[in-house]
Amino acid sequence: MISTTAAHIPELTTKLAATSSATAELQATADRHITKALGRLRNHVFKEGKGLNVLTSDGRQLLDFTSGIGVTSLGHCHPDVTTAIIAQAQSIVHVQCAIALSEPYVQLVESLLTMMPDPSLDSFFFWNSGSEAIEAAVKVARSKTGRNNIIVMQGSYHGRTNGAAGLTRSKTNFFAGTGPLMPCVYTTSFPYWHSLGLCKDTSEEELVQRAILDVENVLRQQSAPEDTAAIFLEPVLGEGGYIPAPAAYVQHLRKLCTQHGILLVVDEIQTGFCRTGKVFAIEHSGVTPDIMVFAKGFANGMPLSGIVTSNEMMSAMPAGSLGGTYSGNAVACAAALATTRYMRSHDILGNVQTTSKKIMDGLKDMQADMANGGWIIEELMVAIEFKDPKSRLTSGNIHNVNLPAGLNKLVQDACYDRGLLTLTTSIYPVLRLIPALILSEEDVDSMLRLMKTAVAEVAKNALA
Ligand SMILES: Cc1ncc(COP(=O)(O)O)c(C=O)c1O
Repeated sequence: MISTTAAHIPELTTKLAATSSATAELQATADRHITKALGRLRNHVFKEGKGLNVLTSDGRQLLDFTSGIGVTSLGHCHPDVTTAIIAQAQSIVHVQCAIALSEPYVQLVESLLTMMPDPSLDSFFFWNSGSEAIEAAVKVARSKTGRNNIIVMQGSYHGRTNGAAGLTRSKTNFFAGTGPLMPCVYTTSFPYWHSLGLCKDTSEEELVQRAILDVENVLRQQSAPEDTAAIFLEPVLGEGGYIPAPAAYVQHLRKLCTQHGILLVVDEIQTGFCRTGKVFAIEHSGVTPDIMVFAKGFANGMPLSGIVTSNEMMSAMPAGSLGGTYSGNAVACAAALATTRYMRSHDILGNVQTTSKKIMDGLKDMQADMANGGWIIEELMVAIEFKDPKSRLTSGNIHNVNLPAGLNKLVQDACYDRGLLTLTTSIYPVLRLIPALILSEEDVDSMLRLMKTAVAEVAKNALA
């Protein structure tokens, strides 16, 4: 096994007290007493994290290209965020939102106002998880329009609570056997070749045309405009395969919504806060949403989510209709305030642009390197799609061998064996990379080096 070298984790200095046997005890307790309904990549225990580096309780060093699914934007235990958390925890932790305001809550609003894609987005509500914020957005959309129906995209992911799962269309395992889910939800195609049953060479223009036709048919055949409260959109499908929505499609949705008095709700839970090279992914299309939902990357690991809309829209909500015991927790707000301030005062966007170009260039080289397994890579999107032996839509493989199913998982395992943490996504064989946004070019080099040998190994085994 090749592990990442100590050079990756210069700041991880703590002597590990836990031995392998202590780790085994934790794992045994987890096996016995923690629900198996939690799917977990490995039964390892994360002990320390700094930047992109994680140390497990049994001494494994991992280069983290997951950031806890897009959460630790500034890396694990960023000093500014940790200092803010400690300071807030020493002054006041729980300021219940129906009883009082906290300073960081209000200061966070001030910080976020400067980051919004449009000044019309000026009224906030904070909750804990992304799913809860999605449900708040449903509530606001229905209250404001007096309509029930919601249209969602095929392949979308909006969460696991009953209402949010009712909007999710990425995988059935998030809700199978638990219905009835929230009713009045209709599905339209996302401009993605897989979802439209087209081949991967289909032009963007055609994908957009097909998806537009589909949403217009949904409004004619399933959910009349006068019954439709909102269309929910992830600007980049996350659990659906890391597929960006083309700007022309988003612009058309905006027009359609405006024409019919339908609200455009944009889920920026995974894409927000610099993840896509803009502060919010919706900015790539120049479209202003009616409601925007965010979470994950803006609190660097503390549980915090929110929605933002116009003051006029929020005024549809009577006092007490939004809230929750922990809504806008003061320590979480302090962490988000420190994170967003850091994002504003450092060139995080510049770093995302430089490092993502380097990642993409490196992956393209890997794909072109046929002698070292490049032929098992089907397509590079924002993630990597491997060949799917069962799909009739994907292209053949140059060696004409019977490739195993789940190549993404095999590459993920091979990466892990080398000390690189990655994530799979979607029902297609896709591997995603979501590192902290402060990653260095050296981190990219390490990732590419480890990934390259992992891909080569999986391809070689496929040929054996
Ligand atoms: C786009 C999107 N929406 C909603 C959610 C749900 O957020 P949470 O897991 O915090 O409930 C997620 C989480 O991955 C997400 O990526």
